[in-house]
Amino acid sequence: MTQQQRRILLTAALPYANGSIHLGHMLEYIQTDIWARFQRAQGHECYFAWADDAHGTPIMLSAQRQGISPETLIERMNAEHQADFQDFGLSYDHFSSTHAAANQRRVESIFNRLQCDGHVVEKSISQFYDEAEGMFLPDRFIKGTCPKCKATDQYGDSCEVCGSTYAPTDLIEPRSAVSGSTPVVRDSDHFFVRLSGFEAALKRWVSSGALQDEVANKLQEWFTDGLRDWDITRDAPYFGFRIPGTKDKYFYVWVDAPIGYMGSFEELCEREGLDFDEWWQPDSDTELYHFIGKDIVYFHTLFWPAMLMGAGYRMPTAVYAHGFLTVDGTKMSKSRGTFIMARTYLEHLNPDSLRYYFCAKLGPGLADIDLNLEDFVARVNADLIGKVVNIASRCAGFIHRGSDGQLAAELPDAALYQAALDARPAIAADFEARNYQSAIRRIMALADQANRYIDEHKPWLMAKEEGREAEVQAVCTQGINQFRALITLLAPAIPFTAEKAAAFLGCPVQAWAELDQPLLDRSLNAFQPLMMRVDPAKVEAMVDASRASLQPTEAPAVTLDLEPEIVIDDFTRVDLRVARIIKAQAVPEADKLLQLTLDLGGEQRNVFAGIKSAYEPEQLSGRLTVMVANLKPRKMRFGVSEGMVLAAEGESGLFLLSPDSGAEPGDRVS
Ligand code: MSP
Ligand code: ZN
Repeated sequence: MTQQQRRILLTAALPYANGSIHLGHMLEYIQTDIWARFQRAQGHECYFAWADDAHGTPIMLSAQRQGISPETLIERMNAEHQADFQDFGLSYDHFSSTHAAANQRRVESIFNRLQCDGHVVEKSISQFYDEAEGMFLPDRFIKGTCPKCKATDQYGDSCEVCGSTYAPTDLIEPRSAVSGSTPVVRDSDHFFVRLSGFEAALKRWVSSGALQDEVANKLQEWFTDGLRDWDITRDAPYFGFRIPGTKDKYFYVWVDAPIGYMGSFEELCEREGLDFDEWWQPDSDTELYHFIGKDIVYFHTLFWPAMLMGAGYRMPTAVYAHGFLTVDGTKMSKSRGTFIMARTYLEHLNPDSLRYYFCAKLGPGLADIDLNLEDFVARVNADLIGKVVNIASRCAGFIHRGSDGQLAAELPDAALYQAALDARPAIAADFEARNYQSAIRRIMALADQANRYIDEHKPWLMAKEEGREAEVQAVCTQGINQFRALITLLAPAIPFTAEKAAAFLGCPVQAWAELDQPLLDRSLNAFQPLMMRVDPAKVEAMVDASRASLQPTEAPAVTLDLEPEIVIDDFTRVDLRVARIIKAQAVPEADKLLQLTLDLGGEQRNVFAGIKSAYEPEQLSGRLTVMVANLKPRKMRFGVSEGMVLAAEGESGLFLLSPDSGAEPGDRVS
């Protein structure tokens, strides 16, 4: 198998630095890693460089809420993310941050080139501004009522109920999700990239075969709709790179995020002595691939290529999008315990099991991938344990016991071994085309052949008979060589297991070409268990742990539906006092109200309170509570209400507030 050595750079989409890695991310990162390992196993020069996506409003706000600087936040997350990636066996060559200096230089230079060549225009735009927070609001931080279907509590860009998209200013009763206040419209000057100028070149690129058909078709729709100018500016406060020549304008995170691919690779070049320009100049003979999720296709097939073209760089060889991960047939869910963090998985199960399962299910398209937990256990145990690992443990046992660990000098069934070798090109073509499920089907067919061979020759019976040691050794030498072929072909998917296999085979398990030479006439190292069966109890424990780690503090504060901000004076105008309930009785005409007689330390008040659903009247008399004492009396059907009592109300019910014991009626509450 002689083929030209290719030079390949690949990337996976940069995870946002404000959240932990979950199994959805891992689907993509495992897909990418399998491809990288596969390419290296073919002898190609292949680098995998990427980074954390460290900028943007959500990261800024998340740091604020935690009371730390964004720099501290992104540093912590970078370490956490990398620990997860290492433990999942990702073989990336470099992991940086979009906040790195190399990236800032690259961003500024690309912007400069775009500007010099007339691709950047400046326009004034009107946007919602949160006066309480002193910031312009990204669409996702504005909520209100959908202008189409009138569903409440919808985001500023689209409605999750009816699916329509709109401008935030179209929302009915818009609110800032940051402060809860009603935003006002303000003007600001922004830089835009004129995408229409790239349309012809983008169309040529699309027809070069760089995209999956589904993606190319989508792009065609976007062309038909017309390419609008792309707003690349965000106003302060923002965590990102400031736009040179401005005081308070920043590059939108989606400008510096894909450039982060270059920033990370530049750092790798410095470390490894590679020539950056050779890889990124327009006529480069190297290959560049981006693995991404289907949700970020627009950014990678329009904005990013336009930036590359406009700044005089090469185009990606291909952009490969995948579908989303579902667990047990539905979107990952925190309450069901199927929103599984990478770390939670690792605390319970073997990374190779998930890597194998994803590999066995991934295809070249954009279809969603389901992690069915029951099928996961069955599939991994049947394939990896039942068909692959078992060959090694059975055969190694006989070779160690009967032949002192020594392999025979030749293969008794050379044709069987050759069949595995001959399957390599088809399997390689599958991996190359990201049709991993097909590659796995072919490899498992080879495993079935190997198991049939062993079952036919029954070394366990021969081993009981005198004088048949040589036959046992021959059959098991064949078995070990079939196993070596299988584990080599599977190594991109299950690197930890492959490494253990390499230790006992006494040879590296990586390059597929090395299989040309079978392992003969040499000794095996001591056998160590390669992989344990997946224990369904551990899967259950992982799901339980995922449910358990659901703490209310994890819910982003932005979902709190806050009233508009007030100042302290607004609050002190409310005169809150401790009151004792001296009498409580039902109001027969009203099914929600109790009539309370309250003592304020000398003064008595009559108050109607909507707490009948939560309390029997007799439970309440004698008890202390807190009331608004200066509320304007209100005439009701059954009498005048002279104030109100305070109660908490949530999903779990209604709870009257009361001070700790010791407080006296009439005490001021502040
Ligand atoms: N920061 C951007 C990408 C910038 S690339 C220049 C981003 N980050 S992300 O953390 O939200 O997602 C990172 C990758 O993980 C994306 O490709 C996304 O599609 C993928 N996935 C996130 N959740 C996923 C699933 N549930 N299933 C499969 N992939 C998912 O987008
Ligand atoms: Zn709607």
